[in-house]
Amino acid sequence: TGFFTYDPGFTSTGSCQSELTYIDGDVGILRHRGYAIDDLAENSDFLEVCHLLLYGELPNATQKAQFENDITMHTMVHEQMRNFYNGFRRDAHPMAIMCGVVGAMSAFYHDSTDINDPQQRLISAYRLIAKMPTIAAMAYKYSIGQPFRYPNNKLGFAENFLQMMFGNPCEEYEVNPVLAKAMDRILILHADHEQNASTSTVRLAGSSGANPFACIAAGIASLWGPAHGGANEAVLVMLNEIGDVKNIPEFVAKAKDKNDPFRLMGFGHRVYKNYDPRAKVMQETCHEVLKELNIKDPLLDVAQELERIAREDEYFIEKKLYPNVDFYSGIIFKAMGIPVSMFTVLFAVARTVGWIAQWKEMIEDPSQKIGRPRQLFTGVAERPFVPVDKR
Ligand code: CMC
Repeated sequence: TGFFTYDPGFTSTGSCQSELTYIDGDVGILRHRGYAIDDLAENSDFLEVCHLLLYGELPNATQKAQFENDITMHTMVHEQMRNFYNGFRRDAHPMAIMCGVVGAMSAFYHDSTDINDPQQRLISAYRLIAKMPTIAAMAYKYSIGQPFRYPNNKLGFAENFLQMMFGNPCEEYEVNPVLAKAMDRILILHADHEQNASTSTVRLAGSSGANPFACIAAGIASLWGPAHGGANEAVLVMLNEIGDVKNIPEFVAKAKDKNDPFRLMGFGHRVYKNYDPRAKVMQETCHEVLKELNIKDPLLDVAQELERIAREDEYFIEKKLYPNVDFYSGIIFKAMGIPVSMFTVLFAVARTVGWIAQWKEMIEDPSQKIGRPRQLFTGVAERPFVPVDKR
């Protein structure tokens, strides 16, 4: 009944109005609340960007101190949450643990789940932003059999995350400021990206009035796939598989072959038909981190050569396939000592602010309705029931 447009993958459907993030994919522009992503990555810090996304403005000095304080006081998770980890196999994929544990947060914070109360919406956002690094680092510690680390609220956001990941009770852990800065920048680069699959999932889940923590767990599930956030993990697996620059043409040929499902991971984007501006900053950060750690990673040579070959190849030129945000991030994470299975978790830690800011915007939008796509029915129209002995 009624007319609607069949639009698989929502390539041409605007699902909401939003003031958060602007993308012009034809020229490779990404701006949050008017600020260019490279400007923010260069001059701001992650918590400022969180403030910007949630409140619409960069904080002044007083607001910044207050916001940092407000987020910091939520970094610890309920002690009972430790039990969730014990229920997982040690070799569980950390994204599976994230789906479970973040979903479980909905059972812990009853005082902040009245979505009609603006103050409670904010507290939910703060809790999510603050606790994600703690939950993510716990997933990692659990997988390697080390004790969980508590957050240290004297440290900055990225520093604290690194100490929870890599510190242990036997020795002092000094956070390398260059790595902390790089991590902070990576968090900024992933903070929001308008109506991508996971953000749309969070909005759709939230459109029914569901618990915000459960909605974020839905977003994490969507992010996990290799066509979305899981691509950063898939890129490193692919670069390892390529192994040497001499093997690149073979993989490029496979990616171009219509009969082969293989794609160059970290290439292509639904919206960017030009260089992904995040990939540029990521590549620079990659060089900085490798230099600081004095690492010569042959995978960087493979990645750079792959980019060069693909960008000169007619197939990639014609289809406007450029490196995306996931192409260089894995090499940085690897250099920092982060295992491949944690890469997408890092994406989730950063994207949480985008998810919850978009969720909040949706709840506060008076034109908001429950998300309810239509379908083109292609099944059998009607038939009479046949008793089992007659089938
Ligand atoms: N390698 C080879 N061919 C590709 C690639 C690729 N990476 N990406 C797209 N194509 C081809 C595809 O085969 C199709 O060809 P044809 O028109 O002949 O059928 C054409 O380009 C358009 O692709 P599409 O799948 O219709 O485009 P889409 O907008 O639905 O998909 C994408 C976008 C990101 C899922 C896709 O480019 C892809 O699978 N890339 C690899 C995975 C990846 O890096 N994902 C991360 C995206 S950015 C960060 C994030 O979202 O998390």
